[in-house]
Amino acid sequence: MFTVRKATLQDLEAITVIYNQAILNTVATFDTQTKTAEGQRGWFAQHGEKHPILVAEQDGVLVGWASLSAWSDRCAYSETAEISLYIAENHRSQGIGRKLSEAIIKAGQEAGLHTLIARITEGNTASIRIAESQGFEHIGIMREVGRKSGKLLDVHLMQKIYE
Ligand SMILES: CC(C)(COP(=O)(O)OP(=O)(O)OC[C@H]1O[C@@H](n2cnc3c(N)ncnc32)[C@H](O)[C@@H]1OP(=O)(O)O)[C@@H](O)C(=O)NCCC(=O)NCCS
Repeated sequence: MFTVRKATLQDLEAITVIYNQAILNTVATFDTQTKTAEGQRGWFAQHGEKHPILVAEQDGVLVGWASLSAWSDRCAYSETAEISLYIAENHRSQGIGRKLSEAIIKAGQEAGLHTLIARITEGNTASIRIAESQGFEHIGIMREVGRKSGKLLDVHLMQKIYE
């Protein structure tokens, strides 16, 4: 069993470890250089009530995180956020991503956001399945916008508008 709660600064080390796994071993993120928790403090500070970060914890171990980040610093975009979701390698495919995504989407609604954007690399079936089942619609494909692991990759753009 796992629980979902708001992230604190003390979680940043574990959040960064999980993100680094995805940087090194997947094409889910187009970051290619690993991060340090110290270097991620600015990212953490940009989040809060309106742009939450949630973590999933199992037996006291942080096994996943999700965030809603500002889509743009231009003010008219202030009700639009981008969703991110990362589960530790050895805890994937156990339903944690689905539960965490449900929680972060609900948190975004409670925070007064109007719409969420997801950018999902081609082939990421689990992410696309989660997004579709939670009301995200496909709004386009950016073709061959990233090169990672020696391959040019498409990015699927998906959007959810809160009722
Ligand atoms: C993508 C990710 C967040 C999904 O979280 P998860 O906990 O592994 O997924 P869940 O167990 O909650 O499963 C969610 C859905 O995806 C499906 N799924 C899970 N793993 C899958 C896989 N390897 N291949 C295909 N489908 C998969 C599940 O069947 C489930 O669908 P269903 O409810 O219709 O049966 C997680 O695998 C991850 O962190 N991957 C690396 C980073 C990443 O891709 N982040 C997203 C960036 S957009």
